[in-house]
Amino acid sequence: MPDVPTPATPRHVAIVMDGNGRWAADRGRVRTVGHRVGGTTVRAAIKFARQRNVRVLTLYAFSQENWSRPEAEIQVLMRLFARAFRQEVAELHREQVRLRFIGARTRLSAALLQTMASAEALTAANTGLEVIIAIDYGGQWDICQAAQRCVTDGLAVSPEAVTARLSTAGLPDVDLLIRTGGERRLSNFLLWQAAYAELYFTDTLWPAFDDAAFDDALQWFATRQRRFGAVPLGHAVTPQSVPARAARS
Ligand code: FPP
Repeated sequence: MPDVPTPATPRHVAIVMDGNGRWAADRGRVRTVGHRVGGTTVRAAIKFARQRNVRVLTLYAFSQENWSRPEAEIQVLMRLFARAFRQEVAELHREQVRLRFIGARTRLSAALLQTMASAEALTAANTGLEVIIAIDYGGQWDICQAAQRCVTDGLAVSPEAVTARLSTAGLPDVDLLIRTGGERRLSNFLLWQAAYAELYFTDTLWPAFDDAAFDDALQWFATRQRRFGAVPLGHAVTPQSVPARAARS
């Protein structure tokens, strides 16, 4: 594959929004205060992504592993999601944002599922920023359900067939994956879709991830040379460029 020049702006940005609990603890507050302030950061990040002409913004709101958190914290998060999806959707619709949800949907309440379905239906024809909220999501789950659908459809499991059956079907692959909160791992987020993503880790806790912090990530992305497994232009190995001894071994 030829060397691909990095466009200044990533088409698809995905974010692991980590650090809500620590942000609250640093201020002597309960963890759920961090989640509430984190909700405000989500709104600001969507606005910033629109301003910077990002096409797709995928946010990791709740992983399948998050079900093992204390029940009280799960309840607060679910209420926060329901309120946010209800209250923000009209404004997002005005801004031509298209809202979609990815994840298993088997353990979410009927009321939350209804709110999510209404938000998706209202914004389905919008042509601006696509905001994908990953909720009850796991990258391994996504790959497995896509592979299972290949089998059900009577197809051989191939990269193309799986890609077309992922929860993100039709979206571009992730260009830039940001994780806030200091950890350096993917935590089962978009494992397939981020195969060639540039990975940006910052110690900034999610509630403190403001426009300047987002801009730092985009500026860093613009300096990356993306090779997708190839070599830089002008560095291709030819028979003439390999020393005779190396060429023999
Ligand atoms: C991880 O930080 C964060 C979550 C599991 C929840 C993310 C939720 C929000 C940002 C709230 C609003 C979201 C939407 C989509 C409206 P953590 O609490 O595990 O942080 P810690 O590592 O400091 O404990």
